[in-house]
Amino acid sequence: MAFPDDRPRRLRRSANLRRLVREASLRADHLLLPCFVAEGIRERREVTTMPAVFQETVESLPRLATEAVELGIPGLVLFGVPAHKDAVGSAAWDDQGVVQQALRRLRREFGDRLLLVSDDCLDEYTDHGHCGVLTEAGEVDNDRTLELYQRTAISQAAAGADVIAPSGMMDGQVGAIREALDAAGFSATAIMAYSAKFASCFYGPFRDAALCAPQFGDRRGYQMDPANRREAMRELEMDLLEGADVLMVKPALSYLDVVREARDRFDVPLACFSVSGEYAMLRAAAAAGALDLRAAVLESHLSMRRAGADVIITYFARELSRWLSEEG
Ligand code: PBG
Repeated sequence: MAFPDDRPRRLRRSANLRRLVREASLRADHLLLPCFVAEGIRERREVTTMPAVFQETVESLPRLATEAVELGIPGLVLFGVPAHKDAVGSAAWDDQGVVQQALRRLRREFGDRLLLVSDDCLDEYTDHGHCGVLTEAGEVDNDRTLELYQRTAISQAAAGADVIAPSGMMDGQVGAIREALDAAGFSATAIMAYSAKFASCFYGPFRDAALCAPQFGDRRGYQMDPANRREAMRELEMDLLEGADVLMVKPALSYLDVVREARDRFDVPLACFSVSGEYAMLRAAAAAGALDLRAAVLESHLSMRRAGADVIITYFARELSRWLSEEG
């Protein structure tokens, strides 16, 4: 054998050799498509900061869902944009709320052909834009918020959600939701927990899409400090002990070290959420001619799989599925 070792390059010489020794893989099977369903608009409306992503209506959503099914994407993650917001976010657990309507409609039209994951949080529903109810001092009240997450989870499960995804980062949210679902007869409804959700600037475009930017302050009092990897492991472990079926790290690209460590530590399915800002960055770079969109999206999502994510929630799910099927 020659020195330096000449084996690595020998195995990179042809496409079939590379294919043979490739470690990570990316398929439509791994993807979930996040979508926004808005109330009080007549036609679906493109999100300014997220080209090709729309606020859908209950009527327009089935078309997007059909496309997802045809492309082999297992499911959608639904976010509601209600017409009316109030201090406690009551539209979140309204059985006639926009997400509940969308869930019933999709369940009716698609049966088991499409997995329905429902975001359980209050920031899209509160007039102040925080993820929970406020104390008089203007802080988010953890325990009162848990009760509202419980009501929301039950209402979404009753409307047809397969999976509840609590994204508010309140302490004890997974345990509280599990208990409420079980007590209401929804023990088959799973929980995909936003366990290590960081206080990230990369959620900016989502807040335009869901009209949920905090009206004062920020979310650093409940979302994680981007500097903290050890704390992320504690958050993940607590959610697992509280009964989470799937753990999640969010955002994805800037947090792949956290994804890898979570993969090494926990033997449950792991998801990462490639967030709105990651989508906007790649779109903008491609529109500016700086990157080839397809190559950049394929590479960045493959890296999430290499880091150890089983599931990737991504706004590029449709494009990716199309490109992956073309590559064979
Ligand atoms: C909160 C929530 C947010 C996202 C998902 N759930 C916004 C936030 O925490 O400010 C962000 C997702 C994205 O940026 O794509 N309900």
